[in-house]
Order: sequence, then structure tokens, then C-alpha cells
Amino acid sequence: MNILFNDVHDALVNAYSQFSSFKGGENASYIPYLATVPDNLAAIAIVTVEGDILSKGDSEFRFALESISKVCSLALALEDVGPSVVQNRIGADPTGLPFNSIIALELHGGKPLSPLVNAGAMSTVSILKAENVENRWKRILDMQQQLAGAPVSLCEALNHSEQTTNFHNRAIAWLLYSADAIYCDPMEACDVYTRQCSTLVNTVELATMAATLAACGINPLTQKTVLTAENIPFLLAQMTMEGMYGSSGDWAYTVGLPAKSGVGGGVLTVVPGVMGIAAFSPPLDTMGNSVRAQKMTASLTQQLGYNLY
Ligand code: DON
Repeated sequence: MNILFNDVHDALVNAYSQFSSFKGGENASYIPYLATVPDNLAAIAIVTVEGDILSKGDSEFRFALESISKVCSLALALEDVGPSVVQNRIGADPTGLPFNSIIALELHGGKPLSPLVNAGAMSTVSILKAENVENRWKRILDMQQQLAGAPVSLCEALNHSEQTTNFHNRAIAWLLYSADAIYCDPMEACDVYTRQCSTLVNTVELATMAATLAACGINPLTQKTVLTAENIPFLLAQMTMEGMYGSSGDWAYTVGLPAKSGVGGGVLTVVPGVMGIAAFSPPLDTMGNSVRAQKMTASLTQQLGYNLY
């Protein structure tokens, strides 16, 4: 790292104290479980490619991974079928529309465009090599655990909350089926996708996932090679284009780093070759991105001068 660890610590404390109580946004409520999470929680953490860890706030609180799980499954798909198949069958473009948009599908002949929106994520789940539904789920959960270097697990209450309210996603899965854009049983893809969203992580575990991407696929805490280094640029490019949904362009313009948000309130950001950053706080903006997590991350990276562009 070309910057002193003390400076990183000071910047982290500064980002947290400035924005951890920032007012604005609301918890997601279309998944009933998420509406019950205390909205004053906030945390930020970094894990460097050398394995150093710093955190501030409620960094041990475990929250829903939600859409950040799309990064883990895309990582697995890149390993299983390679970047060209992902690009041709799912896509590598922003949709410019909300993460659960049906209009986006209709505009593109049923092709999802991005593995990081709900349609593309279910298509990604379906393209993985798997013998049956439980094997498909186990491979995804194992990838989440390898990236986090921790025993990430399913939250039964959250999964129940999602599985009993995910009618819009089920409709998307059938639309994908009608367009030949889903590659296993559509309800199996939707079920496993819903489970992958229903795991819990804390902010340090989320930062470790980001750090594994920053370290070319080697988890800096376990030292295990989780991903093929050559696949990482494809993953980061997808995150740049769609990781923050309708705000991805603004995020690239102002922060300049690949990131991925989830409606659980987490934001994962990668500083390639340097560190992974994770921030968490439940209230979301209208795009579905955590208000405080975005502000804390932007403050930290600006103080440290991290911007790829
Ligand atoms: O499928 C859904 O709608 C949720 N399980 C995940 C959506 C999500 O996290 C979008 N993120 N900001």
C-alpha cells in the first residue's frame, strides 16, 4: 500500500463520524424481514490485500447479503462457463432501468443484459453446472463462504420472508423461460436465487469478499485461491456498469471504483490491488442503494485518493 495504515484508519474514522447518522432513505419493505432491521445501524470496514482489517461501528451485526450475492454467483458462472458465454447468453451492458424491471426484458427480446439485475441473476444461477437444486444451492453458498472466508449461512426467517413474497421475481423467471434465456427449471432458478439473497454477513466478512476480488481471486485471510485471476476484470466491469443499478454511472463518475449494493443495506467496493471496502446501513435511496453506505464509502475513498479514472 502506498499510503500509511494510520492514514487509512483516520480516513475510516472520519468517514464513519461524518455519515453514520446521516438522515435520509428508508429500509426496504417489500421484503417484510428487512423492514424490521433497526435503521440506526451503521458500519464500515476495510480488508487489505495483505490481510489487514479495520472497522468502525456495528461491524459485527449480520445483515442480508441480497443483491451483493449476484457478484458471488457471477464469479462462479465465470469459472463454470467463461466470460464469452456469460456475455452472449446473459449480457454485459447496463439496463438503465430498476433492478427488477420487466420493461428492460421486453426492450431487449427477453435478454437480461446484466447478471447484476434480478433477471440476469436468475439466468446466471441457471447457467451454473449443477446436478440438482440442492447441488446448485450448495455451490453458490460455498462460493459465498470462500469469498468471505467465513461460514456464511442461510437465515431461515429471511428466506421464508422472501420466498413467500417473491411473485415479481417468479414472473421474471417465466418471462426468461419464454425467451429461452434461462437454462434450468425457472422455479428452481428463482428458488436458489432467493436463497442466495437470504444469507447474512457482517461488514468485515463483506469487506473480505471485496478484498478477495481486489487480490486477484486470493482470499487475503485464508490465503486460498478462490477465483481465476483472469476472470476478475470481467466481474469488475459488470460491477462498474450495473453494480449500483440506476446510479452506476453517477457512482463511476464520482467514486470511480467497482461496487455492488444490496437492499439489505450493504455496499461492497473494490480497490484493485489495494483493498476491499464494505459499508452497511439499512435506509435506502430510491434506486435501492444504502444512503449512508454510499456516503461513507465515497468519503473514505476520496480522502485516500482512490479512483480508477
Ligand atoms: O430479488 C430481490 O428483489 C432481492 N432479493 C434483492 C434485490 C436487491 O438487493 C437489489 N439491490 N439493491
